[in-house]
Amino acid sequence: MIPSERTELQKNRGLASMSAQETKQKLLPPVVDTSTALREEISRARSSGRTIAFVPTMGALHAGHISLIEAAENSGAYVVVSIYVNPTQFSPHEDLAAYPRTIDADRAACRDAGVDLIFTPDDAEMYPPGDQTRVHPGPLAETMCGLFRPGHFEGVSTVVTKLFNLVQPDVAYFGQKDAQQALIIRRMVKDLCIPVRIEVCPIVREPDGLAMSSRNAYLSTEQRSRALCLYRALCEGRDMLLHRGTGGSGDQGIQHVVYAMQNTVAKVASPEPEPVTIDYMTVVDAETLEPATKPIGRVMLAGAVRIGETRLIDNLLIDLPADRR
Ligand code: PAJ
Repeated sequence: MIPSERTELQKNRGLASMSAQETKQKLLPPVVDTSTALREEISRARSSGRTIAFVPTMGALHAGHISLIEAAENSGAYVVVSIYVNPTQFSPHEDLAAYPRTIDADRAACRDAGVDLIFTPDDAEMYPPGDQTRVHPGPLAETMCGLFRPGHFEGVSTVVTKLFNLVQPDVAYFGQKDAQQALIIRRMVKDLCIPVRIEVCPIVREPDGLAMSSRNAYLSTEQRSRALCLYRALCEGRDMLLHRGTGGSGDQGIQHVVYAMQNTVAKVASPEPEPVTIDYMTVVDAETLEPATKPIGRVMLAGAVRIGETRLIDNLLIDLPADRR
């Protein structure tokens, strides 16, 4: 018997005395990489009366992803996580080849979080030979990140539609970290009559406030400390809107907030060893993503910066009273 078999057997022998929840936590979740195997597993779960919760990811799992998985777990559903680095959402000059791939650690993290099934399709499974159909999102995709990553949200909408068709979940979990993506997906399932409920979970941050991201792994120690400027800038904007005042009325006040956020980033944007550049810093209506013209209602402060080769995004949602000047 090879050592891994022995370990597996020893693990399995102990199972009789474990509760169902403990058992689930001890075993690595099964991994399927074909749509046929995926459908078989899911129809088995469905026929035993389970609802299906789905968390689509590109892997390199961190506490942000795990928070979505935990929300799915808490619903009591059978939880499916997909791990697929989707090529169509990367532009040619972006980090597709370098994107972190950590399947063993991801599988262990999924086991610890109680995931029931992991789906790891390859490109041929997701984009069969001759593939040519795309899901084209509307104006929500033409602002903010859409201006700097042409085709990105079309790639996201296309792959998420395919994943929804394969998994056919009752509910799917997305992170507020990618706020624009979450809004586009919500719109898409309405527009295309896809029968899935979308849940959006709050941003999980490092203790100092940096939003967790698989791309944080690219940052050197020096870049990591400068990366905090994005969150600081958003907090500065929030503080002005909620407490200190914008120093102007309506549109002009919003513009002051945008300048203040840009300045916060500019303070750490020294060209040495490489510049921090701003793709955008903005204050928008939290539902339509149109630029806010008055500090009223639910607004989102959002930004994207580049530190060296690494692009970081973040956002904060705030509710402003309707009678504010
Ligand atoms: P990925 O970047 O792996 O993110 C998967 C999910 O985790 C997304 O819904 C994202 O918003 C969420 N997430 C990431 N960081 C988070 C954080 N700090 N707090 C809370 N949630 C966080 O987003 C994608 O993959 C892809 O575009 C995908 C939807 C899988 C399509 O390919």
